Parts: sequence; structure tokens; C-alpha cells
Amino acid sequence: MDTEDFVFKRCGMTHRERFEIMKKFFLEVLQETKRKGAVLEIGVHNGGSSLLWMTLMGKSNNLRHMITIDPYILYPTLYCETIMYLSRNAVDIGLQWMHYSVPDTMFFDSVFSILPEDQKKYAFCYLDGPHDHESVVREVEFFRDKMVPKGVMLIDDISLHSPTGKAAKQLCADFEIGKLPNQIWLRRKR
Ligand SMILES: C[S@@+](CC[C@H](N)C(=O)[O-])C[C@H]1O[C@@H](n2cnc3c(N)ncnc32)[C@H](O)[C@@H]1O
Repeated sequence: MDTEDFVFKRCGMTHRERFEIMKKFFLEVLQETKRKGAVLEIGVHNGGSSLLWMTLMGKSNNLRHMITIDPYILYPTLYCETIMYLSRNAVDIGLQWMHYSVPDTMFFDSVFSILPEDQKKYAFCYLDGPHDHESVVREVEFFRDKMVPKGVMLIDDISLHSPTGKAAKQLCADFEIGKLPNQIWLRRKR
């Protein structure tokens, strides 16, 4: 398994504090969802955050199915390197990991319906793919009734007071809502 320093660098982060906050937050979600629900990420790019979730699931001995989605339209070389790299890590950890090289919309319209039941409920959805308002709202709308109790959607690059943040809040009126540096989270209460 990779060292934490390596995962930190692969995440492309510059602030160790932010990395530690995300780690702690994800470990709490794993604990609070009591081994129920898969982990899903939209927007993989070079696999930094995917590797972080994988590594933490391995280290905490709390493995879930993991689904990642990214069409890699603009990055064919990065796609090959990252998918091979994440595959090796998933095998080392013993993690069941599936990657779908499709846009989020195709995942919603075509892939989701053919998934096994245990991959249709989520403990953690990291939304870091398209960042435009319409896409983020569509993602939140799609996942809100697919979260297990205490399951969390974590949305990157967004503030609670932006139009997108306000729309997410409105869509999830019965969720707890909070923020991390440059991110907001929406947690299903029960
Ligand atoms: C900011 S990067 C993700 C960074 C990654 N989560 C990390 O922390 O290393 C955004 C990624 O979203 C992907 N993306 C763009 N549009 C998408 C869509 N409609 N569906 C899924 N992924 C998309 C891009 O290909 C890109 O790799």
C-alpha cells in the first residue's frame, strides 16, 4: 500500500491541513454508516482522491464497493496510467472497484439501472466531476434518495452561499449540511 505522503502528493494538494481534514471526515463517514453503502466518486482525473478513499478503506479495515466515473475525454494517456494504477491498488487492498468511463449523465441514464442492488446505495459520494451549476444540481438530485442513513455527499469547489450551494441545500432540505475547506457536505439524517 502507498505511504500517506505519496497519497498526499498524488492528490495534488498543497495544504497538509486540508488533507488531514478530508481524511478525518471520510473515516467518520465510514464509521457512521456502519459498513452499509458503497463509495462513489465522479471525476477521477489522476486518481488522487480515489486513491485516498481506497487507502483509508484499506487501513481502517472498512471495505465497501467503490465506483468511479470519468469519461477522460480530454485525457487518454492519463486514463490508461490512472486506471492501471488504481487497479493495482484495489487488488492489493482487496477492494471491489469498478470504473465507468462515461459522463455522469450516461451513468445515471444507462449504467445505474444494471448495477447490482448493493452498488445502488451510497455511504459516500464525492462529486468532483463537472462543476457547472446544472451538472452539480443534477448529481445531487440523483443521489439524494440513494444515500444510506448518515451517508454523505461531498461536493468539491463550492460554497454554501453560491447559487449551486443554495440549490443543493434546497434539494436536500432534510439533510444536515456543513462545509469543509472549499467543499460542502450533505448528510442524510437517518
Ligand atoms: C477536478 S478533476 C477531478 C480531480 C480528482 N477528484 C482528484 O482529486 O484528483 C475533474 C474530472 O472530472 C471529469 N469530468 C468532466 N466532466 C465529467 C462528467 N460529465 N462526468 C464525469 N466526470 C467528468 C474530468 O474528465 C476530470 O478528470
